Amino acid sequence: MTAYPQMTAAERTAEYACVQQKFEELKARNLKLNMARGKPGKAQLDLVSDIFGFMNKPEDYVSDGIDVRNYGDLSGLPAAKRLFAEILGCQPEQVFVGGNASLQLMYDTISKACTHGMLHSPRPWCKEPVVKFLCPSPGYDRHFKVTESFGFQLVTIPMTDEGPDMDAVEKAIQDPCVKGMWNVPKYSNPDGIIYSAETIRRIAAMKPAAPDFLLMWDNAYCIHEFEGDYVEFPDILSECAKYGNEDMVFEFASTSKVTLPGGGISCFACSEANMAYMEKLLTVQIISFDKVNQQRHVLYLKNKAHALELMKRHAAVLGPKFRAVVDVLEREIAPLGIARWQRPKGGYFVSLYAMPGTAKRTWELCKEAGVTLTNAGATYPYGKDPEDSNIRIAPSLPPVEELEQAIEVLCTCLKLSALEVLGV
Ligand SMILES: Cc1ncc(COP(=O)(O)O)c(C=O)c1O
Repeated sequence: MTAYPQMTAAERTAEYACVQQKFEELKARNLKLNMARGKPGKAQLDLVSDIFGFMNKPEDYVSDGIDVRNYGDLSGLPAAKRLFAEILGCQPEQVFVGGNASLQLMYDTISKACTHGMLHSPRPWCKEPVVKFLCPSPGYDRHFKVTESFGFQLVTIPMTDEGPDMDAVEKAIQDPCVKGMWNVPKYSNPDGIIYSAETIRRIAAMKPAAPDFLLMWDNAYCIHEFEGDYVEFPDILSECAKYGNEDMVFEFASTSKVTLPGGGISCFACSEANMAYMEKLLTVQIISFDKVNQQRHVLYLKNKAHALELMKRHAAVLGPKFRAVVDVLEREIAPLGIARWQRPKGGYFVSLYAMPGTAKRTWELCKEAGVTLTNAGATYPYGKDPEDSNIRIAPSLPPVEELEQAIEVLCTCLKLSALEVLGV
């Protein structure tokens, strides 16, 4: 098959008629498929549902002498801190174990920066005339929305194969209005990139003009390989400490995609000084988080090695779904020269770069044919992809048979929109 850009006008017209007919056939199937959000599929939820069988003996309610059923221990059960610390490679006393969502902890950290300031803030951020936040893009739409909702100016930082473009970051942080930066350092959402050692070193060594610069390190996919073995990853807290930046970083993680999304446990990890500051603020807000669920998770996951075994079983479900997506793209789209993508080994997404100017149109066509994708543009600040190119594919929810149909639709729509732009 000749690549579309190399085809003659007549060839493209013939191809368009062919693809259009295929599109009509697909529409007639009345599909209702969803590849919009990174939700685990039913098979994964079934895999972990034995968690409900835990905590039925009286001794299960006691952890390190603490009755988990009662109020107390604001920063979480010591055993839950040990579990997250082992997974993240930091110290248990650096971990605060929260409730069912790390996003809430992230929102709350930003919110506290606004209302009270961070540890080294000269004043609360709400008193600053302008607050800017660095958004490596494409990135996680909900991160961008959090900082947008507080009225910050979102600064797009291009992503490279090694993580955020550090030349751009180092330049941007010379502006004292730049107060922080979002990161998904391992299997980034959506590109599936693992930040390189050099990128991490440069991040840890940053010298921002703002004294209260906040490095948001969302390690959401820290043990989420679906292809190959677990990949070790440096502890950002000790990396930052090497450069005297121990108070710059807050790391986040959760078990949302280990056990139950919305029914798991989450944490942040930070320096001792930050921990004391956050505990002072949090103690006004809540007596203690759900220690019953923390204990359930400690009993269920046990330790990092045991959690990694569980992740292998998730991988056995997820791997074939990702392979189905990428294999079809490689077969159907690669020869046409109209899109590129990564082949991720972990995380929850395939990041597809369609021909510039066609992402929105592809999204609309997919919708017309009954396939829901994440909104085109959602992976960029303010929902605006300057190239109108990136499409985030979330293959985890549909079963493989449905996924194959959804990808068939996506490929057809990619072809149609590319032909429209190239001219037929
Ligand atoms: C990068 C990233 N962070 C956080 C979350 C949400 O995590 P939680 O359920 O712990 O709030 C997601 C969910 O898709 C995500 O992709």
